[in-house]
Amino acid sequence: MQPLPFAILWLGLWLVGLISVVVNYWLYPYSTQDWLVILAIGMAVSCLTAWGLTRLPVFNSKYQQYVRRTEALTAAGQLATSLIHEVRNPLTSVKGFLQLLEKKVVQPELQEYITIMSGELDRATELIGDFLQVARPREPLWEKVDLNAMVRDMVMLVEGQAFLRGVSLSQELSPELPWLWLDRSQVKQVVLNLLSNALAATPSGGRITVRSHWRNRQVWVQVEDTGSGMPPEMVARIGTPFLTTKENGTGLGLYICRQIMARHEGRMEVRSELGCGSTFSLVFPDNFKADPHATIGGTNSG
Ligand SMILES: Nc1ncnc2c1ncn2[C@@H]1O[C@H](COP(=O)(O)OP(=O)(O)O)[C@@H](O)[C@H]1O
Ligand SMILES: [Mg+2]
Repeated sequence: MQPLPFAILWLGLWLVGLISVVVNYWLYPYSTQDWLVILAIGMAVSCLTAWGLTRLPVFNSKYQQYVRRTEALTAAGQLATSLIHEVRNPLTSVKGFLQLLEKKVVQPELQEYITIMSGELDRATELIGDFLQVARPREPLWEKVDLNAMVRDMVMLVEGQAFLRGVSLSQELSPELPWLWLDRSQVKQVVLNLLSNALAATPSGGRITVRSHWRNRQVWVQVEDTGSGMPPEMVARIGTPFLTTKENGTGLGLYICRQIMARHEGRMEVRSELGCGSTFSLVFPDNFKADPHATIGGTNSG
């Protein structure tokens, strides 16, 4: 039992006992024998209370151990977060010097080393960024956003990569989307992560389609690929931290996406078939309250 209800229960019992003794005494004055019985009951209740108190979680050594462990973990977490935050600065400066070095070095062999070092630094920086976002998520900065325009920008960012990989990238965006209140940079990150995951999963000759539509007061953005797909047990675990099948993956991307979607009171849905492909859907509530029927392309758009 939780400490507070437990304490209230005991206090209640004591009060009821006390009141009944007083009321009884007022109605029928007690004999010596009655007093002895009352004393015995009082002592029994005291013993029971003492026994009950020892069973309270606060007096329980396992509970105390748990509290101490939680405190230690919180302190370790805070220390790790600060430490990792501090590590980012030297990494940035090393990256800067590597870029300078890259321009000066002419030997191809050394150039290759620099490329490897630079790639590893990028990976460490990405990991740090992901970790900090999980450890210190920030509250959304709400803005009025044209989701289609944002999706188009994100698609443009990965177009070059898709071309190099031989993957065709197409968009089917509904012109009838409403304005949304979103944290622009957070939602950009979600869309970009879905696109880069789709790219990573889709072999040459494959296709990625990005769709948007507005239905039942919900705005949907879908990223569909004809890539590797996932087995059902993997789909069930999507969005749990550190779940990755990539050698260089952090496994935090979709976890962060899910958190961001929850902060927008939306959700992320996944459909996938092993060997056929996957569809990740972002579902936002149409939360721009000014005019619920206003579409961006429409006449009464804000
Ligand atoms: N479109 C997709 N097709 C197949 N598998 C995917 C897709 N998107 C994500 N996954 C799987 O989910 C895992 C977790 O993705 P994510 O959280 O973004 O972390 P990371 O990309 O660092 O591995 C990936 O490693 C991959 O196995
Ligand atoms: Mg990812």
